[in-house]
Order: sequence, then structure tokens, then C-alpha cells
Amino acid sequence: MSTTIDFSDVQGTILRGYRVDLARHFILTVTNGPKAGAFIEALVDGTDGLPRITTAVHIKPKPECFVNVAFTAAGLTALGLSDQELTTFDAGFQRGATNATTAGKVGDTGSSAPANWVGGLSNGAAVHIILSVWVDDDPAVLEKVSATLRAAFAGCITELSAHDAKALPDNHVHFGYRDNIAQPTVDGAPPRKRQIPDDQPVVPTGEFLLGYDKAGGGQYSVQPSQLSKNSSYAAFRILEQDVVAFEQFLDAYSKTAGISAELLAAKVCGRWRNGNPIELQPDDPGTFLPPSEVNNFKYVAPQLPPDDTLGLKCPIGSHIRRNNPRDMAVIGTDSVHHRIVRRAMPYGPSYDPSVPDPAPVKRGLIGYFINASIFNQFEFVQSQWSLRSSFVKAATAPGDPDGTNGNAYFNISGQDVFLGVNDPKSSSFTLAAIGQGGTNNTTITGFSRMITTVGAAYVFFPSMTGLRYLAGLLQR
Ligand code: HEM
Repeated sequence: MSTTIDFSDVQGTILRGYRVDLARHFILTVTNGPKAGAFIEALVDGTDGLPRITTAVHIKPKPECFVNVAFTAAGLTALGLSDQELTTFDAGFQRGATNATTAGKVGDTGSSAPANWVGGLSNGAAVHIILSVWVDDDPAVLEKVSATLRAAFAGCITELSAHDAKALPDNHVHFGYRDNIAQPTVDGAPPRKRQIPDDQPVVPTGEFLLGYDKAGGGQYSVQPSQLSKNSSYAAFRILEQDVVAFEQFLDAYSKTAGISAELLAAKVCGRWRNGNPIELQPDDPGTFLPPSEVNNFKYVAPQLPPDDTLGLKCPIGSHIRRNNPRDMAVIGTDSVHHRIVRRAMPYGPSYDPSVPDPAPVKRGLIGYFINASIFNQFEFVQSQWSLRSSFVKAATAPGDPDGTNGNAYFNISGQDVFLGVNDPKSSSFTLAAIGQGGTNNTTITGFSRMITTVGAAYVFFPSMTGLRYLAGLLQR
């Protein structure tokens, strides 16, 4: 039986995609705790002319804007939470995104190091609140709502920066891929408007909300209890994409590998740029599959075909296979315990290869990677699966117990081409072929990082109950 969630107590972005075109994320510092508490309270109640925080309750007609608010550990302190209480929070969250251990774990090093981040995000202690607004494709509404919010928090909260996002047509992201296809099916969550069924286990509610059972039993919780049930965490990331470098990578390395640039694009991602999974569509992109098929696949099967234990169709090191290995044998509990809800949108103008950028252009992906444990989900996936090639357990294809045709263990190298710390001296990506010990594989090497972290924060999304509690801490 499915879990019952009180949607009116959950901030909407955790469980629902808003299906809008524009977003603005305000990075804020609290300068007056009691007054900031009053501002949060007005947002929760939708009073003082402010938009009300959006919950997971479906609203009809579609509201003018959607608003959610999240806090860093420093932000919770600024609103009056005690150090003792903070020790009950997720270990990654307590460390924060700018912490050196965190940065090393998730690959925010070199040009991606916190010291280089934009918009005040490099000073983690000053980043307290991320206030996010989403609207349909009307910049005037975004400006109007922003002006209302700015007027309301002036005097108690300083705006360090604001970061805008704008959807590209058909859910595409820079690098040209269709995104927003695969999301976890969370037990008890509202159904997605455009259902995209898959063959994966429903994920227990506790992987995305505190206070519910998680995979393998137990619950994540924090103190005080008012902040616990129906709250969640996220890694907020601003990831800049060098589209020109990516196109050059595809052009040069497809020649090295003797395949087309489009096939290499599909191999590094796991999906063709039109969104079709290479697992189901190994030879050509075809036309975009219907929703019932486009996410309905696994990597392992009892017989060949369709088994792809060896990654001959979808490379084991591809972005989607690293970030959700589905039924493949990997280190960690299993995929169910490490799923992530993605709520990110592109920023910057779309890239047109026929009109070179007149000057360097900033474009990328910005938003929240949501989970009930930053430590066990975002940080685990990033550090153990994206940045390592040794995350795959040794496995041979069905009917080949002695591994004559190869072993998954040898069919992966390097780090995620998208998210890895890809230094030309060490970067590599393997295109697997049948052969013992990886002997016939093609491995491309010497490429650079094409996605740079230019900002990040670890945040906590309190429930509506939690927001009320926090808002009142310094006002009481
Ligand atoms: C600029 C950075 C990124 C780009 C361009 C990118 C691109 C993509 C694309 C094109 C897909 C396939 C579409 C889909 O399955 O819905 C995808 C899937 C996915 N990405 Fe990313 N991504 C980025 C960052 C991240 C980050 C930071 C994470 C989190 C650690 C992440 C985790 C995932 C996951 C979990 C999936 C779904 C895999 C599945 O269930 O099959 N991505 N990404």
C-alpha cells in the first residue's frame, strides 16, 4: 500500500516538477534574525502581499508563480537553531558545500574550487537562504514577484546574488540533450503529469522526505521534531557548460574511436541527444520513443539479448549509468538507496554552431539535486560512482561464466565525462567490445573537463511545519 503524505506540509519542488520556463534563485544572508523570521512566516502564510510558499498540493488553475525556500546550516543558525540541534543533521549538510572535504569528495577542485565561485557562494558562512521562484514564460511576472520579495526582505536580509534560468525548447539542456526524462517514482508522491513509467522499484518515501521509512529500513530524522517530518535536503549546483569544447571533443574523439560524433554523444551520456536510451536504441537515435518506452529499460537480463552487463550498448561509464546503475551490481547498498530527484534548468543562451559566440558566453545548468541524505545520495553518487571507475562489481554476461566475452570490471575507465574532474593527464572513457580482460575495448584519453562548478550550496528544505517553527524561533 502506498504511503500517505500530507502534501500541504511538503515544499512542492521536492515532490513535483513545476513545468515552467523561468526560474530565479536568490542567494541571501540574514542580517536581522527576528525580522527574517517574520518574513519567512509571511511567506508560509502568503500574507503581507507575498506569494505563499508552494506546497506539493496540486493547485488549479496554475498559479502565477511557485516559491520555495531552503536554508544552509549557517542559515539555520542565523534563525536561531542551536549548535546541538545542528549536530543531528546530515553530515554532508553540516560540512557544507564550501568545506574542503566536501569539495574534494564531489570534485569541486581546480577551476571548480569554491574559491572561484560566483555570486558570493564561495563564502559559505554568508550563504544562509536560497529563495527560488519559478514562473511561466513571462519575464514581467518574474520581475514583479522579485520586486515584491526584495521589498519584503529589505532590512533583514541582504541579497548576495540572484541567478536566472530559462528552459530550452523540449526540455533540452546545453550540449543538446533532451533532459528531464528519468526521475525516481517516490512512494506516495503525486503522479507526474506526463507519466514516464519505468521498470525500476518504487523508491521508499524516506529517501526523499525525513520521517518516513527509507530503503532497507529506518528513517532519517533531525531535532527538533518540528523540523523533521516532511523536510528534505538538496545540493544546489550551478554547473557551467563549455558547449564549444564539448562539440570539439565529439568531433575529435569520434574520429579517434572510428564512430560518428552523434554516437559518441550517446555513448558518453547513455541517451542520444533526442532523449532515446542507447540501451533500447543502440544503433541510431530513431524518433523519440513514446513515454511508455523511453525510460523502460534495465542493464541486466537473464539472457543475451537484451542483457548489457558488459556495457556493449550503453557504456558502464556513461553519465546515466553511473548516476543510476539500475539493476547493475555496484558498490553501495543498491541503486534504490542512492536515487536523486533533479530539479535543474538551463541558463544562458542556446548554442548555435552556425553563429559562433561573439564573446565568451556563460551557459549551464542550475538547480537542486534533491534527497533525504546528502551524504548517502548526492555525495555518494558523485564520489563513489561518478568519480570512480571501480564502482562496478565483476560480472560476466549470461552463458559466459568464464568471461571469454569480457567482464564488466574491465569495461569502464576514468570518471563521468560530464561530471568528472577530467584532467587531460588522467581522463579516459571506455567503449567496450567483446574480448577477455578488455582487450578489444577502445579507450579515449586526454580530454579536459567541460563542466565547471561555479557555485553550490547544501540546503535543507523544511516542511511547512518546520518553516513555521524556524520563523518563530527568534520572534518568541
Ligand atoms: C551540467 C550538468 C549535467 C548535465 C548536462 C546532465 C545531463 C543529463 C542528461 C542529458 C540526462 C538524461 C536525461 C534523463 O535521463 O532524464 C541526465 C540524467 C541524469 N543525471 Fe545528469 N546532467 C548533469 C548534472 C547532473 C548532476 C550534478 C547529477 C547528480 C549527481 C546528475 C544526475 C543524473 C541522474 C540521476 C540522471 C538520471 C539517470 C537515470 O535514472 O537513468 N546529473 N543528465
